[in-house]
Amino acid sequence: MVRYRDVYDSWKSDPDEFWLKAARGIDWIEAPEKAFNPDAGVYGRWFDGGVCNTSYNCLDRHVEGGLGEETALIYDSPITGKKRIFSYNALLDEVATFAAVLKSQGVEKGDRVIVYMPMVPEAAIAMLACSRIGAIHSVVFGGFAPHELATRINDAQPKLIVSASCGIEPNRIIPYKPMLDSAIAQASHKPDGCIILQREEHLADEFGARDHDWSSLLSEARASGQKAEPEPMAATDPLYILYTSGTTGQPKGVVRDTGGHMVALKWSMDNVYDVKAGQTFWAASDVGWVVGHSYIVYAPLLQGCATIMFEGKPVGTPDAGVFWRVIEEHKVTALFTAPTAFRAIKKEDPNAELLGNYDTSSLKTLFLAGERADPDTIKWAETMLKVPVIDNWWQTETGWPITANPRGIELLSVKYGSSTVPMPGYEIHILDEGGHEVGSPSTLGAVCIKLPLPPGCLPTLWGNDNRFKSSYLTHFPGYYETSDAGMIDEDGYLHIMARTDDIINVAGHRLSTGGMEEVLSSHPAVAECAVLGAFCELKGQKPLGLIVLKSGVTQTPEEIEKECVALVRSEIGAVAALRNVMVVQRLPKTRSGKILRATIRKIADGEDFKMPATIDDPVILDEITDVLKAHDLISNAAVASA
Ligand code: COA
Ligand code: AMP
Repeated sequence: MVRYRDVYDSWKSDPDEFWLKAARGIDWIEAPEKAFNPDAGVYGRWFDGGVCNTSYNCLDRHVEGGLGEETALIYDSPITGKKRIFSYNALLDEVATFAAVLKSQGVEKGDRVIVYMPMVPEAAIAMLACSRIGAIHSVVFGGFAPHELATRINDAQPKLIVSASCGIEPNRIIPYKPMLDSAIAQASHKPDGCIILQREEHLADEFGARDHDWSSLLSEARASGQKAEPEPMAATDPLYILYTSGTTGQPKGVVRDTGGHMVALKWSMDNVYDVKAGQTFWAASDVGWVVGHSYIVYAPLLQGCATIMFEGKPVGTPDAGVFWRVIEEHKVTALFTAPTAFRAIKKEDPNAELLGNYDTSSLKTLFLAGERADPDTIKWAETMLKVPVIDNWWQTETGWPITANPRGIELLSVKYGSSTVPMPGYEIHILDEGGHEVGSPSTLGAVCIKLPLPPGCLPTLWGNDNRFKSSYLTHFPGYYETSDAGMIDEDGYLHIMARTDDIINVAGHRLSTGGMEEVLSSHPAVAECAVLGAFCELKGQKPLGLIVLKSGVTQTPEEIEKECVALVRSEIGAVAALRNVMVVQRLPKTRSGKILRATIRKIADGEDFKMPATIDDPVILDEITDVLKAHDLISNAAVASA
């Protein structure tokens, strides 16, 4: 029997050999001779010299291998009541045709294309079509507001934007076209064109000179038999840019390369997720997030699986049984979602009574990631589903798990609260502030990965090697800084405890409190502010905003609080989920003027805290406590999350 330890050690003893062997899992136009070139890029590049195409590996390869009639993509939308199934033949046809449409719109290899779409199959088709012709896609989550979209347009400078007429949330339809137009109006860079998918739930009626209708373009291309062939791409060419929250309002453009990405994802499907061609893999996430990129679109298709695009929520579409219905109906082998989705189901149906209505026997494993998996939720899922529940830890930057329980190699024993062990390619070190190993097991420190990062991880930030270096590589020379704090126990298991920066994680969505503070500060009545992530039983964390008003403001505090909530929603988007903004007299600070956000968070979470030695005026903490109490915003996080 193959053991995890042997696999990890085999990587460590000869990384080049390990990754060259993994690289045989995909088809190359020109196979790379070496796995790693330490002299290229910021810290080296993977499979330099290799030539390949992602769309070919996701589609053509399976069709040529006789899997054309197998299911590739299942669209299941309880929110609209629609379902569609695409075989590999059908998906290849759609992708090759839409790739020809992109070309006819002037998109060439290396051009950027922004995809701003809801969870419809056309989002995946657009991504795969870009990869076919070597265009670099940048998918923007539909819950972001126009300003966020504009920031990404300015950074990525897309030639074209692909969008839809609307997104659909349980309580409302969200017209996308006005948001798209507003974003383009705000952006200094203007795309040459926009392709809009009209959805019958809400049609976009105002098409301007640069707007084109998805179906008309597709029909024209189809009528004239236009299809694009896969473009030979260097393994080191960018496949996509995915923007993720940084510590300011300026998101980071994480670059994913072509060859290393495929090799890593393919390896993970065999060894972590343990799914085979012909089986159904369901990542209940959104294509706007990294989980959606890696495990809704690319990895399942690379593996020849059926993948599900689910346009719905774990509860309310129509009920807390919808996950079980989808598992039964599409014979799901592995489900991957964020713990928050299971917390939502558990809250609605604590005894999982709805589970009894469905046959979920196809399910072999539940994978959880995106935020800390609390032991309660894992145990609940284990008891109800009677399958292993595997926590895996990673980031947009890495694109695939850093630590996991490698189901496909060996199922290790589960330790609640730990995301298990490092995957090959990742050598994890826990460092203290001075950059030294913490030494003894179970000592908290900064979780760092020894360079080089493995295939699939970001080689740089889009157009900004310097920001890449200063954000990740400078603080601990020789290491990639994850900005997560954690510890490794005596068995080598990693426990992620918290972020070391001002990123918070709300319902598995990564958000910047710094970005929210920038928006609050822009309100004319706000003198200063602090945003922090407080404990939330459902979403893991929720943002709380505290504002100090300028003197002479005539509006009531309540009016300003409401305006601030609305401002964050309109500038960042509903996904920021900032519902509580409170006026306070003063903010607690150190004598050098640093706002004591961590102390405020501890107060909100009902945790004990030590009075910071450098605090300017301790009385302010009492004032903050009173305000939080008055809003019923002090929880007992320690008890609730135990
Ligand atoms: N487009 C537009 N708006 C969106 C959106 C989208 N794609 N996704 C979410 N929103 C909106 C929601 O409608 C909500 O708006 P509201 O303030 O008007 O209610 C707001 O953004 C906050 O959304 P969310 O934090 O997701 O909360 P919710 O109450 O709608 O749902 C859960 C809670 C737990 C059911 C939901 O977060 C969920 O299913 N999470 C799964 C986790 C996940 O997919 N994570 C991705 C990483 S793996
Ligand atoms: P994202 O880039 O959106 O995937 O968010 C990455 C961050 O989410 C990580 O840096 C962690 O802070 C958090 N995270 C993701 N997965 C886990 C996990 N399994 N356990 C704890 N935290 C996690």
